[in-house]
Amino acid sequence: MAPSADHANPGLSAERLARIRSLPTAELHLHIEGTLEPDMVFELAERNGVSVPFESLEDLSSRYRFHDLQSFLNLYYECMSVLRTRDDFRALGERYLQRAHEQGVRHVEIFFDAQAHTVRGVEAEDVLDGLLDALRAAEQKGITGGLILSFLRDRPVQEAMDTLESLAHRTDDLLAVGLDSAEVGYPPELFVPVFARAKELGLHRVSHAGEEGPPSYVWDALDLLGAERIDHGVRALEDPELIDRLRRERVPLTVCPFSNVRLAVVSDLAQHPIAELLDQGILATVNSDDPAYFGGHLGDNLAGLVEAFGLHDETLERLARNSVEASFASERRKAELNALIDHWVESVAATR
Ligand code: ADE
Ligand code: ZN
Repeated sequence: MAPSADHANPGLSAERLARIRSLPTAELHLHIEGTLEPDMVFELAERNGVSVPFESLEDLSSRYRFHDLQSFLNLYYECMSVLRTRDDFRALGERYLQRAHEQGVRHVEIFFDAQAHTVRGVEAEDVLDGLLDALRAAEQKGITGGLILSFLRDRPVQEAMDTLESLAHRTDDLLAVGLDSAEVGYPPELFVPVFARAKELGLHRVSHAGEEGPPSYVWDALDLLGAERIDHGVRALEDPELIDRLRRERVPLTVCPFSNVRLAVVSDLAQHPIAELLDQGILATVNSDDPAYFGGHLGDNLAGLVEAFGLHDETLERLARNSVEASFASERRKAELNALIDHWVESVAATR
């Protein structure tokens, strides 16, 4: 079965779920292509005349079983081949932002995989403009955000550099660069020149590391790429010196619990290292990664953790404050987001 957000947290009362989903948060680890839901795959395939190797919704839904990152990426890249026009990316962004808003997200920093589209003949600027259209519309609803151009680490480094140069005149419309896709065998050091150029262009830098890859990839993302946040980073726990550094330097980890379970990084939610990371004083945040594939949006992930660990409201508040601190929002916007969290804390206290 394809994951359904409505059934993500069967063990919580409707009131508790609604309260968790109303917590104002910043989502910092979200691949827009990972929000493509099965019905939209078929709708866009038909509209754009793209043939897909799935016979029906049921057939596609039956393929949402993954045993590692690569088994997911195979389906992820296959499905996104239906995205072709600026309008497609606007529609994709709008649907995600609607769902995220319903789950408390008030600021979002969105990854997009430009190369996965340009290799199919889609213009990088159509991707960018469609997503910007969606973000601008969402501002009316009180969500702010920006875009992270994420390089595919299992494709040629020169292609990443060319993609960055092709958007170098649009840096005002970009927040950061990132590094994603198959991790093991594609260490950060490969992308040193690309990240150096991104720094020259004034962009923030983040990197996936320590999802399936070893702790050394986290060190290298920090030291060689200048990453300001680490996406995932859960394997950092294998290296006490690294944990010490992450804590001392307040390096944020954008952790994705449902993703880690679905991709077999951890065996089940109750074994998830988020509690340990928080106990160790790490600036950990909770995010959804690819919600259409992994069973829920940010609020669902939080609710899952509440079910698995019995997290208290104080821990939820801490996670929300961490997400604000770890974001690239302006100081003024951070103050607004913290005021929304204050309000949530007061309203929760009033219902006790
Ligand atoms: N692209 C989309 N989701 C990803 C993940 N969890 N890890 C690496 N690359 C990705
Ligand atoms: Zn990711």
